[in-house]
Amino acid sequence: MNNDLAKEILQLKIEKNAIILAHYYQVPEIQDIADYVGDSLGLSQEAAKTDADVIVFAGVHFMAETAKIINPHKTVLLPDLDAGCSLAESAPTGAFETFIKQHPNHKVITYINCSAEVKALSDITCTSSNAIKVVNAYPKDQPLIFAPDKNLGKYVAQQTGRDLVLWDGACVVHEAFSMEKLISIYKEYPEAEIVAHPESESHILKIAHYIGSTTQMLDYINNSTKSTFIIATEVGILHQIQQDVQDKILIPAPSKEDNTCACSECSYMKMNTLQKLRDCLKFGSPEVDVPEHIRVKAKLPIERMLALSNK
Ligand code: 13P
Ligand code: SF4
Repeated sequence: MNNDLAKEILQLKIEKNAIILAHYYQVPEIQDIADYVGDSLGLSQEAAKTDADVIVFAGVHFMAETAKIINPHKTVLLPDLDAGCSLAESAPTGAFETFIKQHPNHKVITYINCSAEVKALSDITCTSSNAIKVVNAYPKDQPLIFAPDKNLGKYVAQQTGRDLVLWDGACVVHEAFSMEKLISIYKEYPEAEIVAHPESESHILKIAHYIGSTTQMLDYINNSTKSTFIIATEVGILHQIQQDVQDKILIPAPSKEDNTCACSECSYMKMNTLQKLRDCLKFGSPEVDVPEHIRVKAKLPIERMLALSNK
């Protein structure tokens, strides 16, 4: 950790009455300086209850946008405005609107990894930690669209026994795991448990011992009596888990590509750096904003999800 930079950030945070919210996929030095590190649901809940004037969102664009939608009078900063998400990009507003019109009797459930415009077209949002609960909240005879992640959608359909109409979107990181390499690691560590994020493809989920959101994966590993885990999600989460369970062996699930760490990194999440975080706090930019007519419509599906999650 760069101590001078960290000190400056902590000072700026006090001056600006700011809070730093970080996702588990952020680089370790950002996770270490954050006020809260969590999954998409936890981050939305923290954003909804903070009394800070400024929210620095160390995550990707749709997460910062969600914070702005529920906090129109607060300043929401994103260290790098280009930190997008392949899932959110897989659902362009125009095409999604046409898709909805083709299914006029369906309620629209969107995974929070989508743009504010797509949220504005939705009945309710969900995250990977509450998608099953959200689907189950609708009567069995209510036809449902689930978008944009087809892998999470397939998993939720299977868990709930519902016939969901799926949008054909996916996360580049969670579709990059190599089954072949994963099995070969498992042969090396037959005592290991495979823990997977539900954005992963169904053949990976089929062999997983546990499936859950990033926070749920972390809790599962924390509470497990097992000592070795192969983790099928973005590698950044290992930093947080390792702090809680220093005696356990954590192995990142290998990706198909031989990239730098031979594991799966979200290039969008990794666009944020400690320096960019300092700069955004110092200069109050880049700021995330949502046009008011979109914000008002996008707020309702998020509020419905938050209300359901608090039950
Ligand atoms: P979580 O809500 O489980 O943290 O997932 C967010 C995400 O972007 C997964 O790729
Ligand atoms: Fe989006 Fe995938 Fe990155 Fe999560 S890991 S932010 S779903 S691209």
